[in-house]
Amino acid sequence: MGEVVLRRGLPGDFDAAVAVWRVASAARRDGRPSSPEQEARVRASLRKPDAFFVVADRHADAGVVVSMAVGMQGLAHDGAGPPSVGLCFISMVFVAPDRWDEGIGGRTVDAVLAEARSRGYDRAQLWTHADNRRAQRLYVGRGFRRSGREKDDDHGDLIVHYERRLGNERAEEAMRHDPSRSPSSCSVNSSPLPPHDQNEI
Ligand SMILES: CC(C)(COP(=O)(O)OP(=O)(O)OC[C@H]1O[C@@H](n2cnc3c(N)ncnc32)[C@H](O)[C@@H]1OP(=O)(O)O)[C@@H](O)C(=O)NCCC(=O)NCCS
Repeated sequence: MGEVVLRRGLPGDFDAAVAVWRVASAARRDGRPSSPEQEARVRASLRKPDAFFVVADRHADAGVVVSMAVGMQGLAHDGAGPPSVGLCFISMVFVAPDRWDEGIGGRTVDAVLAEARSRGYDRAQLWTHADNRRAQRLYVGRGFRRSGREKDDDHGDLIVHYERRLGNERAEEAMRHDPSRSPSSCSVNSSPLPPHDQNEI
């Protein structure tokens, strides 16, 4: 279906990223559109001073965004407390429905984790719906594990908590190809960091 290019999101990408969120969340909810309040919350998240996001562009058309994911400073007590040092909170992992099952979601999560590492975070967490098997399979494939925490979201739907350490990316990639290699380096952040003035990830 055509190659995509992952890059850091910029303020000029807000509308395109929100458009992907809108169609992907409707598809996940059997076509039910999201409310203006939900959209306002997404836009507010993107604008948070500590937030960063990644997008995938259709290779042939820079600016035609097909996926997004957001990272930001994790706060203690599920967002009610002070910043939790080293913790990156990942949210809003969305892929345009006509591009599902091409591996774009996995690459988008890889990119947001790489950006989190480059910002000095050493662990990541996220929540997803208990019935969202597709997302859960994606996160487990990206090294996330269930912490055991569960709660209801604002709509009374059960969500489950995932977390992982952010280790050495190269060692993890090598392990994916050769699982016999030791996982002992996973908690060490020694991968070369992409400079912030280069946009492509
Ligand atoms: C969840 C989502 C981001 C996945 O994006 P994607 O581009 O399809 O992801 P990938 O192609 O990288 O595939 C992810 C995994 O889902 C698996 N998968 C595909 N179809 C599946 C299905 N019907 N049931 C369970 N898993 C499925 C894939 O096989 C892949 O696992 P693998 O790497 O072990 O093979 C995308 O479906 C989406 O935007 N969904 C709506 C929004 C959403 O739920 N976001 C997550 C919020 S926490």
